[in-house]
Amino acid sequence: MKIARFSRIGFILAAAGSAVGLGNIWKFPYITGEYGGGAFVLIYLFTVLVIGFSIMIAEMLIGYMGRRDSVTSFEILAPHHKQLWKYAGFQALAGLFIMIYYSVVIGWIFNYIVTSLSTLPSTVAQAEQTFNTMLHADFWTQFEYHTVAFIGITYVLTKGIKGGIEKMNMILMPALMLILLGMFAYALTLDTFSQAFHFMFFPDWSKIDSNAFVVAVGHAFFTLSLGMGAMMTYSASLEKNSNIVQAAFWVVFLDTTIAIVAGLMLFTFLYQYGAGPAKGPGLVFISLPAAFYEMGIIGNIFAVLFFIALAFAGLTSAVSLVEPMVQYFIDRFSWSRLKASIMMGLFFYLIGIFAILSNIEGASEYLTWGNKSFFDWVDYVTAAIMLPIAGLIMAVFIGFVIEKSKVESIMKPQLGFAFEAWYFSLRYITPIAMFVVMLSLMGVLS
Ligand code: PFF
Repeated sequence: MKIARFSRIGFILAAAGSAVGLGNIWKFPYITGEYGGGAFVLIYLFTVLVIGFSIMIAEMLIGYMGRRDSVTSFEILAPHHKQLWKYAGFQALAGLFIMIYYSVVIGWIFNYIVTSLSTLPSTVAQAEQTFNTMLHADFWTQFEYHTVAFIGITYVLTKGIKGGIEKMNMILMPALMLILLGMFAYALTLDTFSQAFHFMFFPDWSKIDSNAFVVAVGHAFFTLSLGMGAMMTYSASLEKNSNIVQAAFWVVFLDTTIAIVAGLMLFTFLYQYGAGPAKGPGLVFISLPAAFYEMGIIGNIFAVLFFIALAFAGLTSAVSLVEPMVQYFIDRFSWSRLKASIMMGLFFYLIGIFAILSNIEGASEYLTWGNKSFFDWVDYVTAAIMLPIAGLIMAVFIGFVIEKSKVESIMKPQLGFAFEAWYFSLRYITPIAMFVVMLSLMGVLS
């Protein structure tokens, strides 16, 4: 079987496309708002560098050495207990589970692209009402756009690594960066840019508690697409002799830069036209449309462009959330790509319908357990439990299970003197951090 491989730039764009997603443009600004700006940004940058970058290299290394789907890669590489270690590869399931709600959110964005073409809410209260009506009362709109997302994502997956995933990223990623840079350039001309800059870079430690660290680590993982087999599966299609460290660096750099550019731009707009740095998940869907309204006609154009950029970010991440399980069924069960893509697509699509219903009045009481809707449960179980466990396992696998000489032979030439620091971080810093995050997100420590 001839295996399609990414080109060098194709790999970097696809991996960056996976990393740059709703997490960067939607979530990062609002958690930064929640934790008061600068101090949180500093903690986040620190965790991205110390923990995120190390795990990124480790995860890419496993895929690169295993060269197969995530389950088989662990099985091949484990020096002993292969039957046990292969289960580590089932972290790929987390991606598919995340898609249950990620596709629904992409659907909301499609809806916002369409509605922003004609009208924007004139006040925050109105924007809030529009959003809540969609979320709690309008099943059909969410269903229709979730269906569009499912069809688009599945179609790209059926086309494979080269003709689907690489091609999509080669087009959407530059387009996304162009849109964001254009809007960022406009933000630079506004008076409130310096206020946004100050908010994001001058630390106010009073808003920081131990939770901030946990949220920062959790978000670093999510935004870098770690612990779900995505980077691993993409790296299995890297050419031999590729430089993993360089690729990982570019992905981390692009992901972080785009999050910061998006944050600066959004806060500038919110200071200038809106209610300041809004908090909570409503930032992009509620406060921002109301701020765009204040801009006049240019606001309509910006709103449409912004939501298009957000959709692009979401779609390039979405394919990477599903691809690991697609690859699994192709590799281990000899399914055709077409069959694997459609089956995985149907999985998140059909269960996603319940995620929509779990927010709809009348249905939500049947799909809510212990004050969390099914939608929120999926987010919680993946982010709080599956992801840190996978991070822990990968760090232990590279740090303790695989022979050091084997890791060293590949990584030392690439990392040079930094090799020992990276290895130390994987052995000690990362496992401890992941463990703490997991316990506290599960509510044990708080
Ligand atoms: N990194 C993506 C984001 O920031 O939205 C989400 C994501 C994609 C997580 C792919 C995990 C993954 F495998």
